[in-house]
Amino acid sequence: MAEKARIAVLISGAGTNMAALVYASRIGDCAYDVVLVASNDPEAPGLKLAAAEGIATFALPHKGMTREAHDAAMEAAVREADAEYIVLAGYMRILSDAFVQRWQGQMLNIHPSLLPLYKGLDTHARALTAGDSHAGTSVHLVTPELDAGEVLAQVRVPIVTGDTPESLASRVKLAEHQLYPRAVAEYVGRWRDPSALLARLREHALALPETDERESHGSPGFRVGGEKTGKYFAYFADQHHGTPHIALLARTGSMDELLNLVETQPEVYFKPAYYGASGWVGIILNRPGVDWDEIATWLQRSWRSAAPKRLTRLLDIADTF
Ligand code: GRF
Repeated sequence: MAEKARIAVLISGAGTNMAALVYASRIGDCAYDVVLVASNDPEAPGLKLAAAEGIATFALPHKGMTREAHDAAMEAAVREADAEYIVLAGYMRILSDAFVQRWQGQMLNIHPSLLPLYKGLDTHARALTAGDSHAGTSVHLVTPELDAGEVLAQVRVPIVTGDTPESLASRVKLAEHQLYPRAVAEYVGRWRDPSALLARLREHALALPETDERESHGSPGFRVGGEKTGKYFAYFADQHHGTPHIALLARTGSMDELLNLVETQPEVYFKPAYYGASGWVGIILNRPGVDWDEIATWLQRSWRSAAPKRLTRLLDIADTF
């Protein structure tokens, strides 16, 4: 069984979404474990449940504290619990930008509307006033702008005659309890999911000029230069030759560079079987916190070294401006 991602759940109230996350984590081979439930309200009912379930809890009222100081205390508790992700579940605090930035890509929220509709509060009343046919809920990444990060998953919930904000809210919660655990599990499992990694790599590779994808020895490969004379500039290697790595193979400038990378950053780079001998480096993709801008830079570089002159010449000219 793969190692589980450690998540901290932050709540302010009932904590029904937190409970859904906890119980889902106990069914089968769930991709995450809830290692902490923390709240800005020591009376939050969800804390009692978490404690009864044997989960570490932390509570600190925010009254009389600056936002930064309160955030710092919450963050310290999260780090103490050794959590890799922060999952907000009805946490009714706006977080300071610096805190959010430090956890970018590792902080999720659930919001009771079909984002980008109805950011902020009173979502159900607003959907009713607007005469919408559906309300719903969205799981999204948290960025400094409120409720504006990438939407990871959504579910629609019909509005029925006679609905009040309260009746609608409780129906939407039923949907949230199904959606949130799934979306979290899928998200935290992404970094080791070969098809998600390949999809992301493909997006970057095929965004480069005159590229196509073609299988080579059973692995997806990316070529530049057209159907007949194309040259490979990247391969996707999924645990080849006994390595545990899912990796991008890209061309380096020299064997010295390759060996230096492998020696100084063995958690990122390795010398792949066969390809290593001709200066290709393996860049490990199945590790948390991969910097995809860096992957894109590797792809560009490798593309450039394989691309025909007529293509690189244009880029060289563009570079001089
Ligand atoms: C949920 O509706 C969630 O979308 C919103 O706050 C509510 C929390 O409810 N962010 P609960 O505490 O999980 O029951």
